[in-house]
Amino acid sequence: MIASPTVASRSKNHLPFGEVRHGRLYGWDILSVSQFSRADLDAIFDVAKEMRHMVERVGTFDLLKGKLLACLFYEPSTRTSSSFIAAIERLGGSTIPITQGVQFSSVSKGESLADTVRTLECYCDAIVLRHPEIGSAALAAEAARKPIINAGDGAGEHPTQALLDLFTIEEEFGRVDGLMVTMLGDLKYGRTVHSLARLLALFDVPLNFVSPDILGLPPMLRVELVKAGVRLRETSDLHEVLAESDVLYVTRVQKERFESIELYNQVKDAYVITPKTLEAAKPDMILMHPLPRVGEISTEVDSDPRAAYFRQVENGMYVRMALLAMVLGKA
Ligand code: NCD
Repeated sequence: MIASPTVASRSKNHLPFGEVRHGRLYGWDILSVSQFSRADLDAIFDVAKEMRHMVERVGTFDLLKGKLLACLFYEPSTRTSSSFIAAIERLGGSTIPITQGVQFSSVSKGESLADTVRTLECYCDAIVLRHPEIGSAALAAEAARKPIINAGDGAGEHPTQALLDLFTIEEEFGRVDGLMVTMLGDLKYGRTVHSLARLLALFDVPLNFVSPDILGLPPMLRVELVKAGVRLRETSDLHEVLAESDVLYVTRVQKERFESIELYNQVKDAYVITPKTLEAAKPDMILMHPLPRVGEISTEVDSDPRAAYFRQVENGMYVRMALLAMVLGKA
């Protein structure tokens, strides 16, 4: 099993005006899923369910009234940025959104990430950061006094996506242990795969990895998973594992991370899931995707009840509401 660091090593508990607040995750930077234990996940998911209940009942409420979240996105985003904005606003807080044009901020004048983060934290209570370089969130967290939430650091990790993916699996099946999960597509550059595989290593879940040869798991992640006791299988043929899979997690080939467009063109259409593909799958399996999709799942599949990707999207808001409430000490 993958160890999680102590709360203290991740916590930035600065209590303003003598305010007493506490709770699991309070003051944490959220940088990698390796921080979480199963007990943490249970706690986050319990709060996420409460959030769903509250949204269904009242829509918006005041748990984080007065709190300000900066959303600093150096890479494109639709779901992650808008779900964080929706999450804080549903909790009565507000945002500094730098999500559609870092080019209009001082970043375009050459300001360092550390200085940008040190500036933003003067105005807000936490910073959500997406950046093209692996390790950028950790670097920002070193510089910042306020919590940093990693919304994707290049081909590194995407911890909040993995939380919502795992939450979705648990909601759909009522359990995680004992399921078989297959991840398909770009396993080399796909940060959502890296984070979800690490989280699933905390459970008794065999993992299948299906990809073209050149898009296999990063070797260090493979070693980490094996050391954590994961039973894993790697293949380029989906049909070797499809019929046994409870979850098929499909990913986009990450065009922006390729060194050459020729190489991208060689693998971009390696797999396309169609209604025909799913004929060979279990009737109660689920098909997941972090989205955006660019052809790897045909739209004809959308009406199949096994297609869970838009349910994932909705779960993302509840999980991010939970995470914000916990990191800001209000849950
Ligand atoms: C993913 C990402 O940004 O890593 N999208 C997301 O956050 N839902 C997946 C991708 O871009 O392919």
